[in-house]
Amino acid sequence: MTNRSDPFLKYEEIKKAAKIIKGGGLVSFPTETVYGLGADALNPMAVARIFEVKNRPYFDPIIIHVASPSSFEALTDNFNKIAQRLVKKFMPGPLTIVLPKSKIVPDIVTAGLPTVAIRIPSNRIALELIRESETLIAAPSANPFGYLSPTRVEHVKKHLGDQIDMILDGGECTVGIESTIIKIDESESLLLRFGGLPLEEIEKVVGKIRIPEMDKIIPESPGLLPYHYSPKTPLKIIENIDTIKPNGRRIGILAFKALQNNLPNANIEVLSPNGDLREATARLFPLLHRLDASGVDIIYAQSVPEVGLGRAIMDRLQRASNSNF
Ligand code: TXA
Ligand code: MG
Repeated sequence: MTNRSDPFLKYEEIKKAAKIIKGGGLVSFPTETVYGLGADALNPMAVARIFEVKNRPYFDPIIIHVASPSSFEALTDNFNKIAQRLVKKFMPGPLTIVLPKSKIVPDIVTAGLPTVAIRIPSNRIALELIRESETLIAAPSANPFGYLSPTRVEHVKKHLGDQIDMILDGGECTVGIESTIIKIDESESLLLRFGGLPLEEIEKVVGKIRIPEMDKIIPESPGLLPYHYSPKTPLKIIENIDTIKPNGRRIGILAFKALQNNLPNANIEVLSPNGDLREATARLFPLLHRLDASGVDIIYAQSVPEVGLGRAIMDRLQRASNSNF
């Protein structure tokens, strides 16, 4: 249980935020992955405001955030063995499970789909907010649709600040990339999004997970749209930084590790000087926000190894590189 005298929790703030959620308002709150934009999941009018504020298409369903495994029983008609095993092993944590929805889940939350996405965040402020609100919280990432996800309060303030009722400050998100999403059917488990929990770890617990072909899952999970998670500045993925030719442009570089040769006049950000994928994941969105705000003409992102969290990083970079902002 959380210690309510813990100064980090700012309990009065959480209480105020919970009141707003109960009253049908919108609160941005920290999770271990990225900041969420929360509303009462059982109040369709409140959820509708999330779509308005984010400019999010109504066909894009929203994850429900709960504080304990017992809430799964209420939200799904089929809390099967595999789901139970995943919840036990990985939640709270950066994983979301998609299961058949129960009647209590409003259609607006699931965009009319017969399934619902559920997760238990591990951030203490998020957990206390859910408990204090005495409901379940529907929350997408707190960014305008298609833009980079927020990992700091300033990101939320800058892009959505004047449209929402309150932002709970929890400092920097520790994981820094969205949750991994797994859909569990009767017959198989399916990956819907690479994220903060490496697929390899999940497979150790539930066996092989199918990675569907992209074009087949787009209508179901717009987080998998070919362009998403994108800065406004054009972004290109590149293997070797030394091959960049500035040609008079202002260049931004998102390097994976410390560079051997510095490119003069380029604005260089390094994900992890020693090439640590966990650190690189946590710094991906903050550094992309910084490069996007820096006024460069193009961002070159160096590719990272496609294992573990590296697959989530490359997934986001690929979608950002397809952007049409
Ligand atoms: O880490 C996270 O998951 C963050 C934090 C705030 O919890 N949330 C987040 O939400 O990334 P959002 O809305 O930005 O991305 C959720 C993705 C969307 O691409 C949505 O299409 C997919 O989850 N999704 C939600 N419900 C679904 C369902 N029933 N079936 C398939 N995909 C679903
Ligand atoms: Mg999002």
